[in-house]
Amino acid sequence: MLATGKVLRLRLLQSTWRRCFTVLALESSADDTCAAVVTSERKILSNVVVKQNEEHAPYGGIHPLAAVHAHHRNMPGAIRAALNDAQLSMSGIDGIAFTRGPGMHSCLAVCANAAKNLAAALDKPLVGVHHMQAHALTVLLTSPESERPQFPFLTLLISGGHTLLLLTTSQTSFRTLAAAVDQAVGRVFDKVSRALELPWSTRGPGAALEECSNLDMPPEEVPLFPQFPPVQPGKLSFSFDGVHSEVHRLLERIKREGALTIGFKVGVARAFHEAITVQLEEKLVLALRQCAKNGISVRHVVVSGGVASNGFLRNRLRSCVQSKFLGEQISLVYPPPYLCTDNAVMIAWASMDRFLRQEHDNYSIEHLSKWNIEDLQT
Ligand code: KG4
Ligand code: ZN
Repeated sequence: MLATGKVLRLRLLQSTWRRCFTVLALESSADDTCAAVVTSERKILSNVVVKQNEEHAPYGGIHPLAAVHAHHRNMPGAIRAALNDAQLSMSGIDGIAFTRGPGMHSCLAVCANAAKNLAAALDKPLVGVHHMQAHALTVLLTSPESERPQFPFLTLLISGGHTLLLLTTSQTSFRTLAAAVDQAVGRVFDKVSRALELPWSTRGPGAALEECSNLDMPPEEVPLFPQFPPVQPGKLSFSFDGVHSEVHRLLERIKREGALTIGFKVGVARAFHEAITVQLEEKLVLALRQCAKNGISVRHVVVSGGVASNGFLRNRLRSCVQSKFLGEQISLVYPPPYLCTDNAVMIAWASMDRFLRQEHDNYSIEHLSKWNIEDLQT
C-alpha cells in the first residue's frame, strides 16, 4: 500500500499531466507539408509549413504525384524542425495527431503513416483528425477568452476543396446548412489566377490574385466591369461555375481585342473578388436569418480555411454582418491569416479534446479521402 503522501503526489502528477498535454501533429492532405507542437495550455511551440508552390506552378494546379513526392521528401525535415523549434525531443511529446481526411488519398497516406509509425514505435497515443473540423476549431485556440465563440455558432469554411456553411453545436457536431453544388471557392480563385497568368509568388495562386486586386493603379487604367449576375438568390447553396465562366468570357473578349494589360488583370481580379464576396455575404445572411427563424440563437460566425486569409473578404464579411444585424451583436471570428491556410497547429488543437479524454485511435486506423464532417458526431 502507498503512503498517503505518495498517493497525494501521484494524484498531483496525474492532474498536472491532465492540465498540460503536448501534441506533435502532422498534416499533408493537399500541397503543404506541416508539423507542429501545441500544448493543452494553448501554447503553439512550433509551426512548420513547407509549401510546394514551386513544384506545382509549372502544372498550373496541384499535381497529385508531385505533391506526394514532395510530402515524402519534406515530412522528415518538417518533423525534425517542429521538434527543434519547440526545443523538445520525442520524450517531451505526449501524443501524436495527424490529418485522417478528407483530402488527396496518397497525400494523406504520408502524414498518416509517419504518425502511426512514430506512435507505435514510441508507444504514444494516436488521434486521427478531420481536416475541416480542425479549420473550424482553430479559433478556439487563437481567440482571447472574451472573444472565443460560444456554441452554437455558424462556421463558414472556405478552402481549396470545400465551401461549407455549418451550424456548429459542439466540437464534433456540425450540421450542413449550405455546400457548393459545383467547385469549391478556393479552386475558382486558383483557376482565375492561372487564367490571368499571375505569378504564384511564395503564397500560391489565391494570394497572388488578392495581391493583383490590391495593386495601386491609376483609375483610368483599370476597367470597371458590371456586377456579375447573382447566384441562386434566396437559395442556401453555393455555386462558382457561373463566376468562373464570366471571367473566361471577359478574358476571351480582351484577348480578341488586344493585350492582357496589368490594368485589365486588376479590373478582373477586383470584379471577381466582388462577385465571390457578394455570394458569400448573401448566403451567410440567409443562414443567420434561418437560424433566428428556427429559434437558434447564434452569436458568433467563424470563418476559416485558406480563402479566409483574404483581407478584402475578411473586412467585407465583417461589415456585412454588422450592418445587416445591427444591435444583435453577432461577431465574426477569424483565425489569424497564417492559421487559415493549411497547418498542423489546427490538427494538434482539434485532437486535444480526444487526447485529454483518452479516446485514442488504433495504430492500424485508415485514412479517408472522403469523410463527411457530419459523421463526426458520436
Ligand atoms: O485550407 P487550404 O490551405 O487548403 C485546403 O484545405 O484546400 O486552402 C487552400 C485554398 C487555395 O485554393 C488557395 O488558393 C486559397 O485557399 N487561398 C486564398 C488566399 N490564400 C490561399 N484565396 C484567396 N485569397 C487568399 N489570400
Ligand atoms: Zn485546408
